[in-house]
Amino acid sequence: MCGIVGYIGSRDAYPIVLKGLQRLEYRGYDSAGIALYDGENLNVCKTKGKVLDLKNKMEAENITEGNIGIGHTRWATHGVPNDVNSHPHYSNSGDLVIIHNGIIENYASLKQELTSRDYTFESDTDTEVLVNLIEDVKKKENVKLGKAVQIALNQTIGAYAIAVFDRNKPDEIIVARLGSPLAIGVGEDEFFIASDASPFIEFTKSAIYLEDGEMAIVRLGREVKVRKIQDDSIIVPYVQELQMNLEQIEKGGYEHFMLKEIYEQPSAIVDTYRGRMLVDKGMVRMAGMDDNIERFVNAKRILIVACGTSWHAGLVAEYIFEDFARVPVEVEYASEFRYRNPIIDENDVVIAISQSGETADTMAAIKLAKSKGAFVFGVCNVVGSSISRETHAGAYTHAGPEIGVASTKAFTTQITVLSLMALKLAKAKGNMSNTDFHYHLQELDLIPGKIKKALEANEHIKEVAKKYMNAANFLYLGRGFNFPVALEGALKLKEISYIHAEGYPAAEMKHGPIALIDENMPVVVIATKKGHYEKVVSNIQEIKSREARIIGIVTEGDTDVRSMSDYVIEVPDTVEAFTPLLTTIPLQLLSYHIAVMLGKNVDQPRNLAKSVTVE
Ligand code: F6R
Repeated sequence: MCGIVGYIGSRDAYPIVLKGLQRLEYRGYDSAGIALYDGENLNVCKTKGKVLDLKNKMEAENITEGNIGIGHTRWATHGVPNDVNSHPHYSNSGDLVIIHNGIIENYASLKQELTSRDYTFESDTDTEVLVNLIEDVKKKENVKLGKAVQIALNQTIGAYAIAVFDRNKPDEIIVARLGSPLAIGVGEDEFFIASDASPFIEFTKSAIYLEDGEMAIVRLGREVKVRKIQDDSIIVPYVQELQMNLEQIEKGGYEHFMLKEIYEQPSAIVDTYRGRMLVDKGMVRMAGMDDNIERFVNAKRILIVACGTSWHAGLVAEYIFEDFARVPVEVEYASEFRYRNPIIDENDVVIAISQSGETADTMAAIKLAKSKGAFVFGVCNVVGSSISRETHAGAYTHAGPEIGVASTKAFTTQITVLSLMALKLAKAKGNMSNTDFHYHLQELDLIPGKIKKALEANEHIKEVAKKYMNAANFLYLGRGFNFPVALEGALKLKEISYIHAEGYPAAEMKHGPIALIDENMPVVVIATKKGHYEKVVSNIQEIKSREARIIGIVTEGDTDVRSMSDYVIEVPDTVEAFTPLLTTIPLQLLSYHIAVMLGKNVDQPRNLAKSVTVE
């Protein structure tokens, strides 16, 4: 996920584009760049680091002039974050400049073709390929920039929001979108371009949101012309009057980042498996694993190290790896592992999971495992983070920046990556039939749609939250793949509402915790059809007879648990291994609504930090 901004008009473009990038920095912050046309020169300045680093560089180099500008804040997908890979990217002639949010999946073959026609590339990015493809089309077909962009985009596979500018035609910017957002702010004799409306809200409230598959010619002195990329048909743009203020826009209209991130999970999961899970071909492609497949296949054991929510994702992965790939898995708190002189050697594969990629305990565990000869694989969200650099190989979760301190989309995207890894290993080891493998890929592909369905229970969950918001304690119970989800549900509630909560394997109740149960104790029980259903039903009976209040998380259409529960929240059916991706959703919403109702600071709960760089 990246942020893009553009301006064309009579004001100074630099402060507008720069401020816009700062507002979009939540979308990506590993590098940034701006291109400005000052009437004579097309200056591009870019740097690894934050928008503030870019500002310092541009002001030191004194390149801030111009009434036309485009800017980009990057969350790397192709190529490590560095100055060269940062956007904007020039075409070979230096005439065209582009910013791009998204992924061009067939960039390698396009690059090969362009290279054979003497195009050269400075960066490792798919974006530099795209701008040269546009240039190539423009020259070969002798067409205007808009047409060249259209023809070029029809040769690409992938996702994009782009803005392209030609120094020889300095009164227009061409924009297009497929799968990544793009808004055009319409002012008086001026236009703004951005990934969301926050960069231009103080200049204009009129905005056109491009739909997927649309492109626009944004030209001074003319109305915005929108057309379909695929077939050239003209679209009459709908100019929307924005009602929101700046803060609401940054949060995409949601009241809190946490809620926004909960709702982003369907698209975050698609971003995470896109290009990796090839359902049609019946394969999983993950460079970090492909290059080291022998290490995985020959591993005597997999050890997972992580903290907090990432540790819970590791616990889910333990069930999945053991079930699919038949390899023993141990999951350790990184903070314990690092200090207990663990028995570990070169036959072990260690998977380190971390959203931030900066957690000090996880980092120390990685160093220890490496010192003992183990192969260490990182699963991180933040590109270029310390853990992603310290590990031998890895796979990013493409969840996009997670700003709410309570982790939500990081958890489900971690489970997505780990599921793909387990499937790949199962196949490589011959532990899963092709039919089964294919079936699981298809099921995983359905998960984003099913999460959307699970999110539809939001209003009902609000009612449940209202009923129990004043409880002093909560219990969360689950079995099998859903035991870690019970732990995660309890953690979410604790950290943002400050209500005491515990997660337990449902059958453990009778070994002690059942003594806590009385009529004031809400017990959230994950009781989906797949996964020890009858056993969980018996566990519910045990606690029901001690008068607990039961909130059942059940499969759509369930009647048995419904008849025993005070409330049920339904989720769609899926294979047992992927149920955590669905059962987690109502638990996130439940804790969110309770915390909001209690007036807590949901996005920044007390005593916590997003990235725990101390041990
Ligand atoms: C809980 C939460 C924390 C983190 C933990 C590890 O919502 O966010 O428990 O999961 O601090 O952080 P990362 O994943 O960045 O290593």
